[in-house]
Amino acid sequence: MKSTLNVKNCSWDQFASLPTAQKIEFFKKDGRLYDVLISQQFNRELLEELINIANATRRIAKTKEGMIWLKNLLPHKRAMLYFIQPSTRTFLSFLNACHILGISISEVRDPSTSSEVKGETYEDTIRTFSSYVDVIIMRHPQEGYSEKATWVLNNSDRPVPIFNAGSGRDQHPTQALLDIYTLHRNFAKRGGIDGKTIAMVGDLQRGRTVRSLSYLLSNYEDVTLYFVAPERFQMKEDIKSFLEKKDISYHEVDNIDKILGKADAVYMTRIQDEHDVSGESKNYDYSNYRIGPENLSALKEDAIIMHPLPRRNEIDPIVDNDPRAKYWRQERNGMWIRAALLIKVFNVEESVIEYYDSTAI
Ligand code: NCD
Repeated sequence: MKSTLNVKNCSWDQFASLPTAQKIEFFKKDGRLYDVLISQQFNRELLEELINIANATRRIAKTKEGMIWLKNLLPHKRAMLYFIQPSTRTFLSFLNACHILGISISEVRDPSTSSEVKGETYEDTIRTFSSYVDVIIMRHPQEGYSEKATWVLNNSDRPVPIFNAGSGRDQHPTQALLDIYTLHRNFAKRGGIDGKTIAMVGDLQRGRTVRSLSYLLSNYEDVTLYFVAPERFQMKEDIKSFLEKKDISYHEVDNIDKILGKADAVYMTRIQDEHDVSGESKNYDYSNYRIGPENLSALKEDAIIMHPLPRRNEIDPIVDNDPRAKYWRQERNGMWIRAALLIKVFNVEESVIEYYDSTAI
């Protein structure tokens, strides 16, 4: 059974206007993680559990026997990859997470090949997907549409889980999970994420990754955030007021040089000019929001550089050779944390941990 909330038969508008705390209850099933839609669903305990599952899974996968064991974990499940916005990493890492766990996949990446062009409503399209699969992983240009898919299916007889793989300018919770996983791994020997200073650089206003990551970072103690962006593209008020309520300290600055000596992690992002209405991002000088070899000496020796990718020129490729550049590992971490999510949602996490403990690889 879904949560005790009586949201069946309510309209989408009524559902959409529920407070976040109520929606989160609705995204669970039998008190467990089910739909993965927004970062506010994840508390520290759940984050740590997912990290443990991801670590166990990647270690099990190091041997052929382990890989075969993982492939037999969820062969009875089918996933739909519905990605109607461009994607390389998120699509491929979910696809490969499914391969690792034996989950079969179907995909729609181009809406012009689906019956949406014949005038089928979004609601009917989602219901149709749910007829064939056990989970729908979706990226959609429209904010809130993955939540809407959940609402649609909960008014149907096949409420399969929905994973949000990027919703317009709003959220990208599974990216934020892999970012937390990357931070956790890199700070494991330095007391974890607690107490760290994390700078986010670039188009913070329209970048969904930095929004989702800000929510997740609020689960940690004494973190300090720096938002480094031109004023026009600074972090939006909703995130700032959320952080204020959670007592997380943040500072807005307009030049990367001001934070290089302070940050434990510098999270770079690209300008999201696909969201321009009238070319507003064209006339900016972005030289204050990039890292090149000339900036590296100012960066702390044990700092890390992250990027959700794809990059443009905000990180000079020469920086890839610096040991503090972690974005390629960050990209690989995505497959493991997404595998962990599927394991958790399909309720086989105990088998994974038991197998890992019994083989002690
Ligand atoms: C990001 C996205 O799609 O929001 N990419 C990704 O999923 N790794 C970042 C971006 O496109 O800038």
